[in-house]
Amino acid sequence: MTSAARRILVTTALPYANGAIHIGHMLEHIQASIWVRYLRMAGHETYHVCADDAHGTPVMLKAEADRTTPEELIGKMQRAHQADFAGFGVDYDCYHSTHSEENRQLAELIYTRLDAAGLIVKRKVVQMFDAKRNMFLPDRYVKGDCPRCQAPDQYGDSCEKCGAAYTPAELGNPVSVLSGEKPELRESEHLFFTLSARRDFLREWVADASPGPGPGPRLQPAAVNKLAEWLDGELRDWDISRDAPYFGFKIPGFADKYFYVWLDAPIGYLASFRKMCSERKVDFDQFLAPDSSTEMYHFIGKDILYFHGLFWPAMLEGAGMRTPTRLFAHGFLSVNGAKMSKSKGTFITASSYLKLGLDPEWLRYYFASKLSDRIEDIDLNMEDFVNRVNADLVGKLANIPSRMANFLHKRFAGKLSAAAALIKVDADRIGMLYERRRYADAVREIMVHAEEVNRAFEVGRPWDLAKNGESAGQLHDLCSAAIQSFRILAGLLKPVLPRLAADAERFLNIDPLNWDDLARPLAAGHQIGKFAHLMRRIEPRQIDALIAANREQQQPEDGDTATIGIDQFAAVDLRVAKIISAEEVTASDKLIKVTVDLGELGQRTIFAGLRGKVDVATLAGQSAVVCANLKPRKMRFGTSEGMLLAAPGSEGGLVLLQPAGSTKPGAKIS
Ligand code: MSP
Ligand code: ZN
Repeated sequence: MTSAARRILVTTALPYANGAIHIGHMLEHIQASIWVRYLRMAGHETYHVCADDAHGTPVMLKAEADRTTPEELIGKMQRAHQADFAGFGVDYDCYHSTHSEENRQLAELIYTRLDAAGLIVKRKVVQMFDAKRNMFLPDRYVKGDCPRCQAPDQYGDSCEKCGAAYTPAELGNPVSVLSGEKPELRESEHLFFTLSARRDFLREWVADASPGPGPGPRLQPAAVNKLAEWLDGELRDWDISRDAPYFGFKIPGFADKYFYVWLDAPIGYLASFRKMCSERKVDFDQFLAPDSSTEMYHFIGKDILYFHGLFWPAMLEGAGMRTPTRLFAHGFLSVNGAKMSKSKGTFITASSYLKLGLDPEWLRYYFASKLSDRIEDIDLNMEDFVNRVNADLVGKLANIPSRMANFLHKRFAGKLSAAAALIKVDADRIGMLYERRRYADAVREIMVHAEEVNRAFEVGRPWDLAKNGESAGQLHDLCSAAIQSFRILAGLLKPVLPRLAADAERFLNIDPLNWDDLARPLAAGHQIGKFAHLMRRIEPRQIDALIAANREQQQPEDGDTATIGIDQFAAVDLRVAKIISAEEVTASDKLIKVTVDLGELGQRTIFAGLRGKVDVATLAGQSAVVCANLKPRKMRFGTSEGMLLAAPGSEGGLVLLQPAGSTKPGAKIS
């Protein structure tokens, strides 16, 4: 049966803290969750951690745009992300943040060790600088033509068409995504990790055919090929520092340099695990040692293979630490055959799915039925989704106990006879399929067994047996055998369908199922519990509602015309205001605090991002235009109860909008 227990750490890529979790993310988290749940059922000590990837320019800019602090923004995001994952049955032992004390310490430790080993060098770089925004531009904020394949409109770090990795300075016809201007080149001193010095180590690491307990080589064949391409090419040293302004960790020994977000992001795996270890008294230091007996696995998308297959192991090895045991890369999710799209309503957020009351296990099952161990893209076809779930989960699985429970309770006091299951299942083989992440194969085999059970009681004709008092024994055996079979099926699917399995365990009146239990039937005379409905059908209108909800909520994409209806315009309550007082907020370099009179609506306090952009001393007594029904926003300095309208001035700065004639405070603008 199960081999000796192993200690295993599993991670899922850390979602960025500047956006919502969508069903593309869910593909990865569900894939990992199924694996973890299987390993636990098989008796291995398995931990699953994740965190929000909180650092970097996008978070800094989003906080600025939302007029909040990065800390507040990432806190809110982390809570939302955690709720999404929990809602889908993805149970993290720890869900942390890269903006944490554990991560700061580990990032500094690894950096200091790399530096001491002579693997960090200083180099002058010429970088894209947006003079309008007064900041160096991260790679993703410059777009242009790919230097390798010339594809237009590619990001500054890598090409989506040919996969090339490069620096933004190599792009053809670059523009700043922030201002639309052509960026200028400026010089700055950066720190580099000398990846080129780790080539030999990496070659060996990547090629390892048996890197630890469990089946399979270090990497999937397609990943090996991809990495070999990079390893055989020009292996560039890695720029790990960024200049202020930046949201991240300061680099020890420098006044104004920060670790690049991708340096501390994978370290976040360790930080999250460390937090869990200290909470649960698990030995973290042994885990980090090069000869650690704890296995470590990263589930990642194919887009971040470069970081996980080259930088990350090289950093760890360079710092004298253990490296990942295996990497599990997956492909990308599309919806109805196309890239997820906000305008089509197929950029589906996890929270919208949950809020509309769709069953998370439908999606878990559908993903499982499509996932293999290969790096293939996966399509969520909505029609196929509805048909597959209804046919398999409702039609073949949940209907077994619903047919049998009634007979058992009414005729046999809910007790089983000694009849054996209707199916012979090789649980070891199906377990092996789970462990190898061949979920589609596992699910297919399990469903073949479910069909066998259905066929057996169609042939057995329990309704006819029930009419005839003499066949009571036969009826009892048939129902009991079906229940025994259902228990095995529910157990085999438990990694995929934890909620259904828990309900089944309650109905069957048994302890939580483990893998070993599947070979042992329930004893004759076992008393089953009350039947409860196990799985609802998906109604096609639920899918329509899901698409509609995601179409409505989202911003239009580039190229869409952003029009709104008269209702949406009327929903904005614009009012004439009289400014009573205005002052700069000392602790902020952006905000001013304004008190306005809104007539019938009374007085309001507004924090506006106008510091340095308007002459604050002249504001009191002036008229202004205010959006009066904006949701109040709690800020560090107080609550902002509206928004002042302003437009860019022709001489720079901003000018306040004002009524052109005489009017009263509180007058409604329409
Ligand atoms: N923050 C980095 C990862 C740091 S890990 C140390 C990042 N974040 S992400 O939010 O963009 O993506 C997180 C994971 O979700 C990645 O593994 C990515 O491949 C995956 N996916 C994002 N969109 C996806 C699909 N449409 N389909 C499948 N996976 C997708 O990258
Ligand atoms: Zn290219």
